[in-house]
Amino acid sequence: MIIFGAGGDLTKRKLIPALFYLCQGGLLPETFAILGLDRLEMDDEAFRDGMADAVKEHVGSAWNEATWRKLCHHLHYMQGNIKEEATYMAVCERLSRLDAERGTEGNYLFYLAVPPSLFPDITRHLGAVGLTAESEDDWRRVIIEKPFGNDVESAKALNGMLHETLDEDQIYRIDHYLGKETVQNIMVFRFANGFIEPFWNRQHIDHVQITVAESVGVEHRGEYYEQAGALRDMIPNHLLVLLGFLAMEPPNSFESGAVRDEINKVLDAIHPLTPEQVLTHAVRGQYGEGVMPTGERVPAYRSSPGVSPTSGRETYAALKLTMDNWRWAGVPFYLRTGKRLAAQYTEIVIQYKRAPKIMFKNTDIEQMTPDMLVLRIQPNEGIQMSFGAKIPGPRMRVGTVNMDFCYADYFGNAPATGYETLIYDCMNGDATLFKHADTVEKGWEIVESVMDVWNALPARDFPNYAAGTWGPAAAGDLLKNDGRLWRRIK
Ligand code: BG6
Repeated sequence: MIIFGAGGDLTKRKLIPALFYLCQGGLLPETFAILGLDRLEMDDEAFRDGMADAVKEHVGSAWNEATWRKLCHHLHYMQGNIKEEATYMAVCERLSRLDAERGTEGNYLFYLAVPPSLFPDITRHLGAVGLTAESEDDWRRVIIEKPFGNDVESAKALNGMLHETLDEDQIYRIDHYLGKETVQNIMVFRFANGFIEPFWNRQHIDHVQITVAESVGVEHRGEYYEQAGALRDMIPNHLLVLLGFLAMEPPNSFESGAVRDEINKVLDAIHPLTPEQVLTHAVRGQYGEGVMPTGERVPAYRSSPGVSPTSGRETYAALKLTMDNWRWAGVPFYLRTGKRLAAQYTEIVIQYKRAPKIMFKNTDIEQMTPDMLVLRIQPNEGIQMSFGAKIPGPRMRVGTVNMDFCYADYFGNAPATGYETLIYDCMNGDATLFKHADTVEKGWEIVESVMDVWNALPARDFPNYAAGTWGPAAAGDLLKNDGRLWRRIK
């Protein structure tokens, strides 16, 4: 595994800790080597020492000296400038030596932990020195991370440039939401149980809410965020991944092609918003200064480093989407995400239709919470079902109760970075949890009409929500106008 950008944050925070956990689980073969590449001059020993500190910091109490010693002797480093051709010749030589020393047999996984603007150059250089050419015995794969372009056109251009050197099945596009156990479990929950699917459709479901709420601000990423905003940063990728898994038809198998086809069908069925609909079905917001629930007073987005003091960039986005297919016709999917909200959590709410008639006296159907299934993606991972039950006593009264499954109760709190499954799958050539070029392009198509309208009509009311609140009032109206409410966590 060759990591470009081995000195960067991603390598320290996620990649090496993930390899540590894989090693701990006995999932790394002996004939395996990691070659880190970056600008800094250092030898293998210095690289190993730096990574030991990073792993200790990020795996916390899961640190284990014996596992580290096992992993550490697989780690190597070379200095190089990724913009220079000579670097790639040197990589070739170093890899031939590692092949011989470690018996790695010429299978290479390139992890591009670098800004996306460098992806085309790196892959072109790798191609030029023959490092992307596969043979019957050797595979060559490349992992890249979002953002994959910033609209349909740039995503197509990026895919086109990658395809100059790589076949589509050599490209592994990571969306780290697909590495989350609870996201993968959406498919298991739906398709490994017989009792869910019969009720998973427009006959029984009133609407679906997908919330990715963050209490953090833009932190040190002001410059990136000024370009991206909440819509681009989260919706075409993470939120649509959740929506895809929720809405897809059962695939014929859990194989990459079969799953991808079903997800693409969902994306194709999403009704693109017309410019008029954007005005009523999409809401944007930007946080001003405010007080977080912890009592901390935090500055406005416009006061963040790298952000314009008059910025019109949204830090909150909510959409109402509908689908043109038999399963979901008429069922709205409400999506929302934002920074500096009152809580940090990701959850999916499936709200079922009310019973057609309540025959129990003393029970006001309007007072009852509708039956609801909540998939808690993070934190406090689990699944909750809310339904009506008789309140004990001589009078017949109905109240809402919860049935709750918590991952931690059943499976403990296995530490993980979320990258283990993805790296492991890539090593095994399983692309099921990675994004295909057309899935990425379809994601952009869905949000492009919103981006166009928002770009054409600057928001005059920004900032329109205070940090530490639930976002702009208009996001509440998006549901209220349909006679519904966002679920609030307590
Ligand atoms: C990233 C976004 O892709 O996902 C960030 O760029 C966001 O802005 C992050 O904070 C959220 O990921 P998670 O795993 O913390 O929900």
